[in-house]
Amino acid sequence: MHREDAGCEFQAKDACADRTVDERHRALYQRALPYLHTRCNDIHTLVAYQQAKLLLPHYPDADDRVVLPAVLLHDVGWSAVPESSHSTAFGPRMSNPALQRLHETEGARIAAAILLELGVDAATREEVAAIVDGHDTRPNALSRNDELVRDADRLWRFTPPGTRIDSRRFGMTPAEHFAWLEAGIDSWLSTPEAKRLARAYLAEGPR
Ligand SMILES: [Fe+2]
Ligand SMILES: [Fe+2]
Repeated sequence: MHREDAGCEFQAKDACADRTVDERHRALYQRALPYLHTRCNDIHTLVAYQQAKLLLPHYPDADDRVVLPAVLLHDVGWSAVPESSHSTAFGPRMSNPALQRLHETEGARIAAAILLELGVDAATREEVAAIVDGHDTRPNALSRNDELVRDADRLWRFTPPGTRIDSRRFGMTPAEHFAWLEAGIDSWLSTPEAKRLARAYLAEGPR
């Protein structure tokens, strides 16, 4: 689906200038960005990053030095999946688990390479790559860090940009889409704060 068709109207290239991305993550974000110009992933990634920053203060046992880079890198692997097949690889009509898995394995490879290029230590590289490799398909979180990355990623669905873009690309009315989201809260999300945020977004209604 073309960006315009999916409603990718947000100017993600301004994310550094408007301070959406912290100074400490800008070099990483700039390296990730070329891999994110598909599936509205530039917008999705920034929204997930914002959700992670909302969650982190509630979970002091999580490490933001792992969680935030992992969120920025978690979907770089979609760049390796043909755009014509994206609609079969995620969302309510997902029918091709091999492609969904491909974005995780390619994502882990690309993420590790970006972190190596930036001189990030081996332990952090390995933890981020392990989180990316399975963030959508792993049944249970590996750690608190993994849990927050997954919740931040999935919280996107409930945010105003997420609901606007997803309802259009999934071909759902706002009412159908909100009912689907409401039904998914307890199975998709793990932490109490993520569930609270999801319900708060839904309570505001379609925007
Ligand atoms: Fe993903
Ligand atoms: Fe994602």
